[in-house]
Amino acid sequence: AAGGVPLASRHPSRRPPYERLLKQLKVVRETIDRPLTLAEKILYSHLIDPRQTLSGAGKDPSNVRAKRYLPLQVDRLAMQDASAQMALLQFMTCGLPQAAVPASVHCDHLIQAFEGAAADLKRSIASNSEVFAFLESACKKYGIEFWGPGSGIIHQIVLENYAAPGLLMLGTDSHTPNASGLGCLAIGVGGADAVDALTATPWELQAPKVLNINLTGTLSPWCTPKDIILHVVGALTVRGGTGNILEYTGPGLSTLPATGLATMANMGAEMGATTSAFAYTEPMGAYLAATGRGHIAKDAQGAQSLLQPDTGAEYDSRLEVNLDNLEPTINGPFTPDLATPLSTFVARAKAGDYVKDAKLSAALIGSCTNSSYADMARCASLARQATERGMKVATSFDVTPGSEQVRATVERDGIQEDLAKAGARVLANACGPCIGQWDRRELKGEENVILTSFNRNFRGRNDGNAKTQNMLASPEIVTAMAFAGRLDFNPITDTLKAPDGSDFRFEPPSGEELPSRGFTPGDESYLPRPCPEPIASTPIAISPTSSRLEPLEAFDTPFKSGNYELSDMKCLLRIRGKCTTDHISAAGPWLKYKGHLSNLAENTLIGAMNDQDGQVNSAHDLEGDVRDTIPSIAKRYKARSQPWMLVADHNYGEGSAREHAALQPRFFGCQLILARSIARIAETNLRKQGVLTLLFADENDYSKIDAGDAVQTVNLADLLKPDGDLETQVRVRVTKPDGKAFEIATKHSLSPAHLAWIRAGSALNLIREQAAL
Ligand code: F3S
Repeated sequence: AAGGVPLASRHPSRRPPYERLLKQLKVVRETIDRPLTLAEKILYSHLIDPRQTLSGAGKDPSNVRAKRYLPLQVDRLAMQDASAQMALLQFMTCGLPQAAVPASVHCDHLIQAFEGAAADLKRSIASNSEVFAFLESACKKYGIEFWGPGSGIIHQIVLENYAAPGLLMLGTDSHTPNASGLGCLAIGVGGADAVDALTATPWELQAPKVLNINLTGTLSPWCTPKDIILHVVGALTVRGGTGNILEYTGPGLSTLPATGLATMANMGAEMGATTSAFAYTEPMGAYLAATGRGHIAKDAQGAQSLLQPDTGAEYDSRLEVNLDNLEPTINGPFTPDLATPLSTFVARAKAGDYVKDAKLSAALIGSCTNSSYADMARCASLARQATERGMKVATSFDVTPGSEQVRATVERDGIQEDLAKAGARVLANACGPCIGQWDRRELKGEENVILTSFNRNFRGRNDGNAKTQNMLASPEIVTAMAFAGRLDFNPITDTLKAPDGSDFRFEPPSGEELPSRGFTPGDESYLPRPCPEPIASTPIAISPTSSRLEPLEAFDTPFKSGNYELSDMKCLLRIRGKCTTDHISAAGPWLKYKGHLSNLAENTLIGAMNDQDGQVNSAHDLEGDVRDTIPSIAKRYKARSQPWMLVADHNYGEGSAREHAALQPRFFGCQLILARSIARIAETNLRKQGVLTLLFADENDYSKIDAGDAVQTVNLADLLKPDGDLETQVRVRVTKPDGKAFEIATKHSLSPAHLAWIRAGSALNLIREQAAL
């Protein structure tokens, strides 16, 4: 049978619910009286209650876009090994017997690249065995598909198995939009949103704007979809997609392979876009068929009204790209929006603009961005041309296959051999060098340039060396330039010397888009059972002595037996200025504790500045007159069961969606954050964990509360009690150590749902309570 998982691919959990979505779309059309973009069709047809959410939307798109919050029902969730840990630990506390939507876990980020696939995999499994064992046990218990180490990179596996036109999918990784290459909307989220999906809590998204990218013309033989997206990132910049879905249209679209669209969607993340949208195309159907899902392609044919934008749909902004004029493009160093056409890049390299001798220190192809069969086949065609003339690559050349299915298929079809003959080393089917899991001991912090077909090139991302310049290009350009081992070589126009002294020039790359003999699954032991029945008796594998994993305990609610006031808090700290999620829960070496809240909490707020002494990570406990780090003082409060609150400046918690930034203060006993303003995602995450967030009605009141002051709410009950008044303006009473007291007015944006979470002590407590009813 065509496709790696012929039976699994027919499982009902993998079939898009077109009948329901088309019905919902009808309701959307009855409510919104205007032509719709494709992004709107897919999103709005996933609304829990389209009539209510879209009521009064009328003809003007700005009545909805960038304005309304959409409570959505998601179709599927994928989680990678690093972020899945806390998501599953949280899910475990809510007491549900199984995941509420089809979900999968993928072990890819924790695999290190050092010697080559087999040895690397063995070493990484040994050093992460407890994390993998935990993830596997939780998947078994809750009916989640588990893709073990070596099975492949989350986004490639999702594309091969789960993505399908019209779906709304979430993934706990920023490049989740990769799956949108198959005509769905796939969105990258934090762990808190993953828990929403796992518990069937409506997932909320502010309606994005829609930015249209119109493609005309056709790509020249050296150009690829990667060059389109490298050009687009250059044109729109790293902030250009924020709050937008990028919707591609135009006659150029149908000429591109589905895996190429996935590459483009993948890198939409570099512009901060919510995701990308592509109307259904023939190549999508071909890819579905090749991966054992011809029946879904057939279903999709019948759902075209959902899978194409309406004629006359209105976009918020527009970019025209004429593919005829596109040149292969190289982006970098250090930022993905520094786009340079190949010919200019080579001229700059000759002038010594990058490194003095224009030497390339490594070339890497693959990763979740560019490891399709088509990518590998075209790279192999270049390798073949050169090896037939006796040439080998002139720099280290690593290949990261995206999945076992791609690896086994390129091996079967001789593509891997063509690359190996040229000197390529094949790494494990995992993230490896793309996420810093790349050991380059030989380099020792020297300045150097690498060329990769990856998606991100921030300083230090690949090998931890801040002086490594990562240039992003198509895998074909990376491969061809690897034979020169230099940056000042233009594979389209320049020649190399073959060993016999003759001149060699590359012909443009070519290769099959999809394997004519179909895909082979390779090692079938990697394949999970589709949507497995949960096995409730499965013990969760967490060792009590583990430093990396710790079961989460449900947070207690402070509102017991009809008391709806917070009456006994101390102010732990008044934070000055910027306090991002990185300041609240630092990354870097702390990432290994992602599944161990008490170890991770040792970094709580270590980047925050104390407004009273101007120091970073400094706090004062009046009891005992102890000055220490913020986590140490928070620990003292926790030890004596002293609840506390924080005073924060503007935009508290901006940055990522990291749920640890909410979990950690809550873990130490934080009950209230009173701020000048709070970033929306941080605010929602805090409320989900049961932390009340209020804003100063008068921002000048910020400096009136000092560390050690006693703080209590005065009339929170009027808002929080089950039949409370949402319009209540909560006042807090501040009592100074000398007994002087005053009140401060606050404002809030709490919804009835948020209040229910806070009453219960956390959103998960509420789910548990409701499940018990
Ligand atoms: Fe992995 Fe790099 Fe993609 S870390 S998911 S291969 S962006």
